[in-house]
Amino acid sequence: MTTGQGPGKGLFITFEGIDGSGKSSQARRLAETLRTRGVDVVPTREPGGSPGAEEIRALVLEGDPDRWSAETEILLFTAARRDHLERTIAPALAAGRVVICDRFADSTRMYQGLSRGDLRGMVDQLHSLMIGREPDLTLLIDMDPEVGLTRALARKGHEERFEDFGPELQRKMRQGFLGLAREFPDRFCVIDGNRDFDSVAAEVEGIVLDRLA
Ligand code: TYD
Repeated sequence: MTTGQGPGKGLFITFEGIDGSGKSSQARRLAETLRTRGVDVVPTREPGGSPGAEEIRALVLEGDPDRWSAETEILLFTAARRDHLERTIAPALAAGRVVICDRFADSTRMYQGLSRGDLRGMVDQLHSLMIGREPDLTLLIDMDPEVGLTRALARKGHEERFEDFGPELQRKMRQGFLGLAREFPDRFCVIDGNRDFDSVAAEVEGIVLDRLA
């Protein structure tokens, strides 16, 4: 499989952050902004982003929190990502398009890698075996964990498994994401999400337009 990496190819942008960080709305806004500027954008999300991966999304996000073991969950998220990469992301990048993805492998490194014991090594091994592709740019919307949790709980729907984790895990996830930003400084930009929506959006837009220039 070609993964779309290489000179002259499209740009692969991901948004990451704790639940309730506002990253999904920011990802949508960025896609709209780029589109009005004539950029060929492919907005997508994980888990999901291709028909098969959307089916896996329902399996991992709905139902009993103990439905899957931690290890099975890693396999399911990785399977969804592989399908998403093969069918949506890689073809779009190969066609020179800008992919804007709401969550990607960094979410698995955090949620599956940290929340139920230390499984980060397993996540990384599977990633290098089956995915082998990192984003060109990762925008981490950093946010006060309490505020994020309140927001996430306020819009709680049927996809609630990961939002059930509570404030302690939310804090751990935030620290974990900041740690990932230090681990991958070349592709991460940390954005202060504790501001009004338009200020955050303006910073995001500035960073991305710089990259596209
Ligand atoms: P998402 O739809 O981004 O929800 P939100 O907009 O509320 O952040 O993600 C749904 C949940 O899936 C979220 O709680 C994080 C979880 N998730 C993982 O646990 N592992 C993963 O690899 C991904 C992509 C998401």
